[in-house]
This record gives sequence, structure tokens and C-alpha cells, in this order.
Amino acid sequence: MSTTWTDAVVVARHDTTPRIAVFDLARTDGGELWAYEPGAHIDVQPDASAPVRQYSLCGPPGQHKQYRIAVLNEPASRGGSRAMHALAEGDTLRIAAPRDRFGLAPAARRHLLFAGGIGITPLLSMAQALDATGGDHHLHYCARSRAEAAFAAELAEHPRVTLHFDDAPAPADRLDLPRDLGSPDADTAVYVCGPGGFMDHVLEQAAALGWPTSALHTERFSAGPTDAGEGGPVGGFTVRLASTGAEYPVAEDESVLDVLHAHGVDAAFSCGQGICGECIVRVRAGEPDHRDDVLTDDERAAGLFTPCSSRSHTPTLELDL
Ligand code: FES
Repeated sequence: MSTTWTDAVVVARHDTTPRIAVFDLARTDGGELWAYEPGAHIDVQPDASAPVRQYSLCGPPGQHKQYRIAVLNEPASRGGSRAMHALAEGDTLRIAAPRDRFGLAPAARRHLLFAGGIGITPLLSMAQALDATGGDHHLHYCARSRAEAAFAAELAEHPRVTLHFDDAPAPADRLDLPRDLGSPDADTAVYVCGPGGFMDHVLEQAAALGWPTSALHTERFSAGPTDAGEGGPVGGFTVRLASTGAEYPVAEDESVLDVLHAHGVDAAFSCGQGICGECIVRVRAGEPDHRDDVLTDDERAAGLFTPCSSRSHTPTLELDL
């Protein structure tokens, strides 16, 4: 699976909070962009020396001439968001075709969306799509304060949105999952997106309330906690390619993806953190030690695996490569 890129230009930039800039992007040649499903994200590279980063598309559905993304400036990051924040209207960059790893559950009759901070972006796109089709939904949007919440002004009056701010004077205005999520309901899908601490809080509370994992749809913006070392072979393991039988050792401090690339294997990747799904391959033999935040339980059961972040419980793992 290779990434398809196109050259793009910033047609508008709007700083919606002191740290969050919203960019509208179009193709430099004026052509149409790829269609996408609500919740999709794109790879973005602001310049050749900047790292590739993933940003969710958060514009209204059905836009073929422009994509909208919102970028949180994170000074502690490795420079991707800083490079994005250096862009102004008219600047060029490159963007890749959208990937739909975090979509609306088609069988659900009701949708509960929980966004933390910049995690609003994919959920905003989903909520807009549900608004357009009359889907039953409610969006809970949590942020430290109103001043730090992107899109807060346009969402404040929406009847299907509740804003929760950490600095709200009344405790009743803060997120209360027993109240806002409630008891499990077989017709309801729950979507959660945001920073790790927010995700962990919502998912732990959902589990405590009895929600099955099959009802919970998640997207993290950075890799979550892992069970490193639990039951895995001490000192690494061996990865085997099904196509050639070639075997390569994977040391404790290496990823499977690093090893594949070091041996010239053309393995696709993007985020390198187990959150985008670009590197997914199938396991042919062995027991994976999954350490990603992108595969569903069903996909894991079907033998899918992320070589950028996951490891092996068995001494050898054979991949469909
Ligand atoms: S490269 Fe993104 S999940 Fe592996």
C-alpha cells in the first residue's frame, strides 16, 4: 500500500485559538481532491525537511475542492506542528489521499461522540455528516477552557452539542460519564478521540458502565500506554517473510518496521506509532503482541498487525510480506 500525494496550497488560515490554526487546503492545479468519509485523516508534509504528520479532516462533508484541518501547536513535539504553524495563505505543502480508519458505524441508530481538545476534529466531521443526514447523535466536547476550544463559538448554540470546560464553575457543566454516556445500549455507537489521558478516562469509565469494546470506536493522537514486555520473548524475536522465507532478528530496541526497512523490504508506513494504519500487514504464523491504537478486536482476530509498533509473543512471527 503506497501513499499517493498531491501538491496543495493554503487558501485560508484562521487562528481559532492562540494554539490552534485552521487551514483550508486546495490542490495547486485547481483540481478536485479525493472523496472521503467522515472521520478520515490525511498525511501532511509542510516542507521537504519537516516530518509527515496526520491530521483529521474537519470540514463539512462532500467538499471536493478544499480540505479543512486544524493543527494544535505543540512546542514539545518533533517539529511537525511548528512547521504547520509557520504556514501562511499562499504557501504550498504536500498532502496525501485520505485514509478512513475511524468512520461512523453503519449499523448504529444512535451515535455518542466524545472529543477531548484537538480530538474534536474527526468528530466534528462525523457530527456534520450526521446533521446532514438526520442521524441521531450528540457530541460532548471537552476542553480546558472556552478560550482553548477550537470551534467553540460555532458549536455553543448547537442543540446536539454539549461543551464541557475544566474551568467551569459549576461541576454539573463538566463531563459526567455516568450521566453523559449512561448505560450500554445495543443500538448506540460511542466514538472517542483526544489525548491519551482523556481517552483512558472515557474508556475506563465506559468499561465500568458495562459498555462492550465492540461499541467503542477510538482514535488517539499519540500512542497510548502499552503492555511492553508482558509475556514476550526476552531479548527480541525473529520476523520471517512468508514470500521468501527470509528471517531477521528484531532486537528489544528495534521495531519490526525498522528491521524490514534495514533489509530493504518495501514496507509502507506513515505515523510510526501504531495510530494511522498505513503499515498494516497480515500475520501468517506466530502470536502478535499488539501495541497499536488502530486495529479493532475483529481485525486483530483476523490476523492483522502493525509492524511499526507491535511485537511478538512467540519467538518467531511470520508476516504476509
Ligand atoms: S505506520 Fe502508522 S500504524 Fe504503523
